[in-house]
Amino acid sequence: MNVPLVDMKGQYNLLKKEINMAVLRIVESGMYIGGKEVEKFEEELARHCNAKYAIGVSSGTDALYLALRVFDIGPGDEVISVPFTFMATTEAICLTGATPVFVDIDPKNFNMDASKIEKAITKKTRAIMPVHLYGQAADMDPIMKIAKKYKLVVIEDAAQAIGSEYKGKQVGSIGDIGTLSFFPSKNLGACGDAGAILTNRKDLIRKLKMLREHGSEKKYYHEYVGTNSRLDALQAAVLSVKLKYLDGWTKKRRELAKIYDNTIKPQKNMILPAEEPYNKHIYNQYTLRVKKREILQKFLQANGISSISYYPLPMHLQKAFKFLKYEKGDFPESEKAAKEVLSIPIWPELGEEKIKFVSEKIIEFWSGHK
Ligand SMILES: Cc1ncc(COP(=O)(O)O)c(C=O)c1O
Repeated sequence: MNVPLVDMKGQYNLLKKEINMAVLRIVESGMYIGGKEVEKFEEELARHCNAKYAIGVSSGTDALYLALRVFDIGPGDEVISVPFTFMATTEAICLTGATPVFVDIDPKNFNMDASKIEKAITKKTRAIMPVHLYGQAADMDPIMKIAKKYKLVVIEDAAQAIGSEYKGKQVGSIGDIGTLSFFPSKNLGACGDAGAILTNRKDLIRKLKMLREHGSEKKYYHEYVGTNSRLDALQAAVLSVKLKYLDGWTKKRRELAKIYDNTIKPQKNMILPAEEPYNKHIYNQYTLRVKKREILQKFLQANGISSISYYPLPMHLQKAFKFLKYEKGDFPESEKAAKEVLSIPIWPELGEEKIKFVSEKIIEFWSGHK
């Protein structure tokens, strides 16, 4: 049996008629940039995420960059974030000219360890940027408390976590700003690159909208140096179709995760993902911690099952960030996680037969590797 990590075409085939109609409507309209389709999707998205406002942008990376820029964060400023994340989180900070300052993760849930934040705060700190990794929220209450105490803004990198909840609140609407990615493999995936910014703060909207459009509100008059970070109408139309199904897909992902939880069972050298009691995990990834990761991965591959390590090298050890002068050993939990994580297939249409096959193969592996 062949079990890929994701199956983008499978989902498309189920929604083929609706998606094709939406794409055709846009192509025939001649309106490709901005306009009603984007506004409609922004309204639907804000409602769905329980945020007052949603602003469509061209990627999750741009969403992070613009979220920092709207607060004039730049050279001389510091932004606290985690090294165990995707490149874009750290990259966006650097692109503004600000300096990323890392704090380690909580090994239980792979997210920012809030107890380490205060030690990292200096006079230059402007923002805290937690990441809701794999689809599970970071512990937001202590983060918000510290932000309030030191007058810092909070930007939630919710790229992997649309629909995820923290103590009943949707992620992305807890901090000053939340950012989403609609990269095709995300729970809500576009047919290309796309992203969004969520916020409850009306005072940020005008500037955010200008920043995504060359710092301009009136054509050819520019108040800021912005970018071209618009969400295009084709992606907005596709996302509008898919958004209607997202809650159902999330439910399915959670059911599949439960099947993994109940069938694989933790082993001496393998830990299953833990959903914190205050969280609703949306399982963009189902990520194991495995001592013999490479051997397990090879075994799965030999049985037709794909798996991947998100992420094998933390940001503080990446060549691109050598100039930050961090060293091996600075963030032991992130370094340990990077050596042990292994994400296995999970997507709504995966089905019980395939998920049981993956579970059985993992159990078979451990029966021969104590
Ligand atoms: C945690 C995190 N932040 C940011 C991004 C960037 O999103 P995009 O690929 O849409 O630019 C991603 C994408 O994978 C991500 O996983």
